[in-house]
Amino acid sequence: MCGIVGYIGANAIKKTLLDGLKELEYRGYDSAGLAVMQGGKIDSFKAAGKLSALVDKTADFDPKGFAVGIAHTRWATHGKPTEINAHPHGGAHSAVVHNGIIENYQTLKNDLIANGTKFLSQTDTEVIVHLYESFLLQNKDPFKAFELTIKAIDGAYAILLIDETSPSTIFFAKKGSPLQIGEGVSGRYFASSDAPLVGVCENAIYLEDGSWGYANDREAKIFVGDAPISPRKKPLPLTKSAARKEGFRFFMEKEIYEQSKVAGETLTSRLNADSARLDELPEDFLTGVISLRLCACGTSYHAAIASSYVFERLAKIEARCEIASEFRYRDPLLRANELFVVISQSGETADTLEALKMAKKGGLKTLAICNVDNSSIAREADATILTRAGIEKGVASTKAFATQMIVLWLLALYIAQKSGAIGKDKLAQEIAALRRVPSALAIKSERHDLIRRLSKRYLHGHGFFFIGRDIFYPLALEGALKLKEISYLHAEGYPAGEMKHGPIALADSELFTIALTSETLLKEKTRSNVEELIARDSTLLAIGGDRFALADDHLPIDERDHPILEFFEMTTVIQLLALEIAVRLGNDVDMPRNLAKSVTVE
Ligand code: AGP
Repeated sequence: MCGIVGYIGANAIKKTLLDGLKELEYRGYDSAGLAVMQGGKIDSFKAAGKLSALVDKTADFDPKGFAVGIAHTRWATHGKPTEINAHPHGGAHSAVVHNGIIENYQTLKNDLIANGTKFLSQTDTEVIVHLYESFLLQNKDPFKAFELTIKAIDGAYAILLIDETSPSTIFFAKKGSPLQIGEGVSGRYFASSDAPLVGVCENAIYLEDGSWGYANDREAKIFVGDAPISPRKKPLPLTKSAARKEGFRFFMEKEIYEQSKVAGETLTSRLNADSARLDELPEDFLTGVISLRLCACGTSYHAAIASSYVFERLAKIEARCEIASEFRYRDPLLRANELFVVISQSGETADTLEALKMAKKGGLKTLAICNVDNSSIAREADATILTRAGIEKGVASTKAFATQMIVLWLLALYIAQKSGAIGKDKLAQEIAALRRVPSALAIKSERHDLIRRLSKRYLHGHGFFFIGRDIFYPLALEGALKLKEISYLHAEGYPAGEMKHGPIALADSELFTIALTSETLLKEKTRSNVEELIARDSTLLAIGGDRFALADDHLPIDERDHPILEFFEMTTVIQLLALEIAVRLGNDVDMPRNLAKSVTVE
């Protein structure tokens, strides 16, 4: 959601802050701002809209030499996306940027107003800076005032605060929202994710919840409670090229093409000659586990549903799926011998993180399938299996989904091996199929050209149905979500067998049906569902298998030997179809309206 950047040093501070914000744009935002303190004076700039508006506003501001600065991209939660609500928020002599939600802000705000404080914005964040200054008035010690401020606020936050009475210092605090500190040759950096630190720092400290402290040109002092701590530094990727488009039109397009390569990395050291290997799991990790609860949001939830078929079919273990935001509030019955598996690309999704904490509190063993090491979810779970997809910057998730599915398939085989649910021959077949995933995910240029040409026919209409059976039903959900997210056209994913139970009432030539027609699973059943729609004049695009004579359009799939390989190849097709339709509609594929890459608020 919001992005935070901080810098202490003498290397072109305005450019450093703006470059950092640019690296965070992919998270989605609607306003931005920065504040620079030099010689004990703070200059603050804010602008609604894209980063370019802030660049214009600061065109004549370019401080030289040592300075301290904080910057922010805001995704509105409290108050409209206006300039006045943009961060930083200032007091008489200090400024603050914040990512998260201050849950008790109204009470604090009322008390401050009762004592004469004037508020300018509608945000919860502004409370922080006024509270800090009120504590400072009482005890004249900025560090103590900051400590009291942090202790007074409830909720989730990553905070950077600067104060003219401490001219070379940034105060920071972290609870529930990510915050990293990096040290580079040009100074000390803060960021809410790796991207702004890559290329300027070689390592980073990933702050734990409850961390707070201060940093200046000489040191960074980190505390948890009253105790000073010295957290380990973790190495960062050395070059930014890994986070750049490299000739593609969009990050999303690059990441669709990357799936084949990263799939190989996901599988590395996880396949023996004829078995699956997950060294991340202690030998006895699965002891006593008799069922799985798979919990996630969005695309990651679709991976959960697809894998539930695989767990029950291959590992003969019950696998129940949960949407995290539902799970949190429905008083779920939790059984001690259930493994709670959370799936998350970012590792920061608030609902998934809170569901994970609920499961832990309920005494369940927990496992995270995650793409970001050291993320809040990765650090909260008892064990984590990283998907190794690399930085995913497109808001619409692609390679994360494919690598999640690979890891979940591996996990199903790993469980099956341990429990004896699968024979040696079947296991060998599955392992052989897994080895072919990178080729199933490889994009064939003539296929992409065909999709690009076809997309011109699917730009209007009154909606889309994506339909499929078995594992192709959650893939239909994913195809519908991809299309919605970046084309803004209405689309629904549906079990193919459900169309006759109502949805078929919508069938007409302006209702586009995208049918995932597998050659290996329920082929005839799916085709008869498709014929029901065609008989009612629905315009139909069949993806998969042999040419379907009745279809208006057909996108062939080469994989025929294994349903999950068909699944992966179809995945690239639905991703490219959504992308090419969105391109024709002129949408911002990487930063679709209203969306954020990581939903760190409820
Ligand atoms: C997927 O394209 C969306 N960006 C969104 O649904 C996303 O999958 C969801 O917010 C979960 O994110 P996570 O995997 O980082 O937890």
